[in-house]
Amino acid sequence: AGGTYLVTGGAGYVGSHLVLALVERGDKVVVLDDLRQGHRDALPPGAELVRADIADRRALEEVFAGWRFDAVFHFAALSLVGESMREPLRYCAENVSNSLRLAEAAVKAGCLRFVLSSTAALFGNPERTPIDEAAKLAPTSAYGDSKLMVERGLDWADGAHGLRSACLRYFNAAGADPSGRIGEDHEPETHLIPLAIGAALGTRPPLTVFGTDYPTPDGTCVRDYVHVTDLADAHLRVLERLEHGSCRYNVGSGTGYSVREVIEAVERVGGRPVPHHFGERRAGDPAVLVASSQRLREDTGWSPKLGALDEIVRTAWAWHSAHPRGFDDRNKA
Ligand code: UFG
Repeated sequence: AGGTYLVTGGAGYVGSHLVLALVERGDKVVVLDDLRQGHRDALPPGAELVRADIADRRALEEVFAGWRFDAVFHFAALSLVGESMREPLRYCAENVSNSLRLAEAAVKAGCLRFVLSSTAALFGNPERTPIDEAAKLAPTSAYGDSKLMVERGLDWADGAHGLRSACLRYFNAAGADPSGRIGEDHEPETHLIPLAIGAALGTRPPLTVFGTDYPTPDGTCVRDYVHVTDLADAHLRVLERLEHGSCRYNVGSGTGYSVREVIEAVERVGGRPVPHHFGERRAGDPAVLVASSQRLREDTGWSPKLGALDEIVRTAWAWHSAHPRGFDDRNKA
């Protein structure tokens, strides 16, 4: 503790939960965020916001000139799989160039610790499950490939510049700060849990279940939901781990739940039905994505504290029912 950290995209969903954890343990945090997706209200008192696009080179130079960072946490990115298939060039260009320029600026400033928000989308349709770090890297989306290119750039930067990087491949980030201060507020929202909760609360339309003919026990897709506060904790732990060199970790709870099981959990926790109907498969969705986080557990002592699905849904439900329109700074029609 007592360090100084740059968090890009720190006003976004996963980033803001890390910022909270850093500020709570007494670190100085500078957030670089243009608030296109992020929310000012997601930042705790004490976190400093530099409101700028990560692509703005001048802003980046000023940030590195203004503070001496112990590490950079990089969350700011385009992150919608479906959108990436319609605009692959934008996804590759923006995610890759923004991330590698950020790494370059960090190296120039002498900051040689870099933590990347990476994704299970690196693995495409995995050959076996649970997915460990030895699994083949074979993204099936431009989004996943853009993150893989960033990981590769960071590999090269380790050899050439001694830039130590940790890449955390998140499975399905979900839930909200257990004390209710911040939560998930995307626009557009594409994620299952907030959409199911919104359907139950009546703040969103009925849910469409994408596909019922997958080779899974109940025919719907199986995912590994990991609590966003546990994800934040994984970031703090890999920071220590960087003392030993660069590292790559898959981060999930290790348990898979089907779309139907998630709907049942929302109904159980919320005590209300989730209006839903069954539709076609969504293009690009693998049947089963479950992480092996054994390496992370062994190397850092991490384990999910809020890992149970009902616990994840309970914290998400509390946030959405208290903030039916999301953060106050968003003026939704
Ligand atoms: N789903 C529905 N209806 C919806 C939304 C989602 O049935 O309205 C289903 C999806 O088909 C999927 C599951 O719920 O089976 C979870 O979908 P999400 O969109 O919540 O999450 P994904 O697993 O598609 O995406 C996550 C991350 C991405 C990452 C991807 C890796 O959000 O950033 O995993 O495949 F790239």
